[in-house]
Amino acid sequence: MATKEEEIWSRAEQYIVEHLLGRDEALDSVLAAAQAAGMPDIQVSPTHGKLLMLLAQMHGAKKILEIGTLAGYSTIWLARALPAEGKLVTLEFDPKHAAVARGNIAKAGFAERVEVRVGSALDTLPLLKAEGTGPFDFVFIDANKTGYSDYLGWALQLTQRGSVIVADNAVQAGRIADADSDDTTVQAIRSFIEKLGAEPRVSATIVQCVGSKGYDGLAIGIVTGD
Ligand code: SAH
Ligand code: DHB
Ligand code: MG
Repeated sequence: MATKEEEIWSRAEQYIVEHLLGRDEALDSVLAAAQAAGMPDIQVSPTHGKLLMLLAQMHGAKKILEIGTLAGYSTIWLARALPAEGKLVTLEFDPKHAAVARGNIAKAGFAERVEVRVGSALDTLPLLKAEGTGPFDFVFIDANKTGYSDYLGWALQLTQRGSVIVADNAVQAGRIADADSDDTTVQAIRSFIEKLGAEPRVSATIVQCVGSKGYDGLAIGIVTGD
């Protein structure tokens, strides 16, 4: 059940979507396919998906890396930021999720520009490095939260000065401030945030977010050095 505050956030989000995002049949059909496949409803919200697209556009991103594909919802938002010659690689552990995502991405017209790689990101990230697939100019981290600290390390391996790194779920309804939390997700995000803060090669902040997906946040950083 949504709380009173969650209802307010959702209503405001609907209003924002109506006036600034508009109807989006392509992404509606992605959500319908995800639901039909029984996938968890944990995509970024529409307003935050559009924020990802805008950040990538503002940055002029040409090579995007996403960690955690699910049904390809955030993938398609990010792919919309790419120029015709742009490329997006998205990493997904679950082959069933990857299959649904590939269908959605093709239907949205991005089959040529988007590659879905199946496997644990901790296996596929070193492969990307070994292949020389980078450097990426924009990285979106949104897979298992226990991997975030390692993904930050790999993101730094696969980017260059000026690249942008964004990570979802960085606030956990405010629970990141609970040092004594016994929640493994909260502690994993705390480790990620503390690694981000201690990392001299990145300048970052966290934007707290509310909406239809509750209260969470996006970590946003720029790679300042090599
Ligand atoms: N970015 C998506 C949501 C991703 S949900 C969106 O906003 O639309 C997180 C995804 O990460 C799930 O599909 C899950 O299967 C995947 N995942 C979990 N552990 C992973 C791992 N070790 N490597 C790669 N993907 C993983
Ligand atoms: C979960 C994962 C996410 O990436 C998200 O945005 C919300 C929830 C989850 O695993 O529950
Ligand atoms: Mg997320």
